[in-house]
Amino acid sequence: MNLKARSWLSSVAIACAFALAACGGGGGDTGGGGGGAANLNISTAGEQLQFAPAALTATAGQQVKVTFKNGSTALQHNWVLAKGGDDVASKIDEAGAAAGASKGYIPDDKANIVSNTKLLNGGETDSATFTAPPAGTYTFLCTFPGHFPAGMKGTLTIK
Ligand code: CU
Repeated sequence: MNLKARSWLSSVAIACAFALAACGGGGGDTGGGGGGAANLNISTAGEQLQFAPAALTATAGQQVKVTFKNGSTALQHNWVLAKGGDDVASKIDEAGAAAGASKGYIPDDKANIVSNTKLLNGGETDSATFTAPPAGTYTFLCTFPGHFPAGMKGTLTIK
């Protein structure tokens, strides 16, 4: 585990210490222990360069599983959660394009990424599992070149 991951984990722990209600069990909307797990499903708006839904919600410290189904027939897409807003997403988009198709447009340096699925062909499904970051608004995007600039993005709100 590298230093960034350590500081990430300790900031999650600190967030939990200050938000016992969020992390201490109860209040999870999908049940389960330890604050509950969130199982979120997302797809695309058919062949359009849009996620559906474009807004997701979870609770800080919660275990989150995002299952992304590429709802198009021909286009490739992925789902990538940025550690920040559109400015961070834009950096990931550039780095993803530079990484290229062989990497599924996912950069090797994941410093700006909370979690991501692999690049999916039409009709395929993959999931991303992660601990919800501290409260805030996080942009998710598709890093297939041209898709994020065309509006293939959305927001995960962490309460
Ligand atoms: Cu896409």
